[in-house]
Amino acid sequence: MRVTITSNVHEMSVQAAQMVRDEVRRKPNATLLLPTGGTPLGMYRELTRMHSQEGLTFAEVTTFNLDEYVGLPPGHPGSYRRYMEENFFRHIDIDPANTHVLDGTGSNLEKACLDYEQRIREAGGIDLAVLGIGHNGHVAFVEPPAAVRAWTHVAALARSTREANARFFHSLADVPRAALTVGLGTILGCRRVLLLASGIEKADAVTRAIEGPVHAMCPGSALQLHPDVTVIMDQAAASRLQLREH
Ligand code: PGA
Repeated sequence: MRVTITSNVHEMSVQAAQMVRDEVRRKPNATLLLPTGGTPLGMYRELTRMHSQEGLTFAEVTTFNLDEYVGLPPGHPGSYRRYMEENFFRHIDIDPANTHVLDGTGSNLEKACLDYEQRIREAGGIDLAVLGIGHNGHVAFVEPPAAVRAWTHVAALARSTREANARFFHSLADVPRAALTVGLGTILGCRRVLLLASGIEKADAVTRAIEGPVHAMCPGSALQLHPDVTVIMDQAAASRLQLREH
């Protein structure tokens, strides 16, 4: 693992965007696996700036998203399709047909999960996955205890996850109890992985993920099994690391 500690969250976002930019420049038709939540907002802003000011193009890029809530239609303000449209897709030149977000409203969610894996395969696999991490060590919506070999699946959300995400809804009761999410198998199958963390509230989770034992109770620790992981975090998130060699 390559670990970079930045002085602040803005610098984390800029460096994350630079890594995505470099991937897209290297391979204009790259396939990206993308996160939602608070952590990547600055990265999306910086990529949007690179698009408008530096000519970075996403015209041939394909994206998949990590997860989506069960039961929220794509236009719902809390849905991740809506998040991606508002925070990224509508500001860049990506072909909407090349953006894939799981649909949590269908009648056959198991089939939707299988189809998603199929579409990732048809796209040639994922070149770069960008991940945040939850307070309980989850990545995507893979909650502990996690199966390392699982593919895209329906997941029950941990209470701590619903509480953390209640800020995007009117109340905790409005946060869905389940989601569709890629699995650790999906993530470990990506060619490169970028993990982002900012803030003191992520310090325990990110320390367990990168310095703790690989353990089902910390899904992010599975990244230690991947050969090409970059971690970019701010000083607050890094404050509990032992900083041995990664
Ligand atoms: P956050 O979520 O970026 O909103 O903190 C990260 C996650 O839950 O994976």
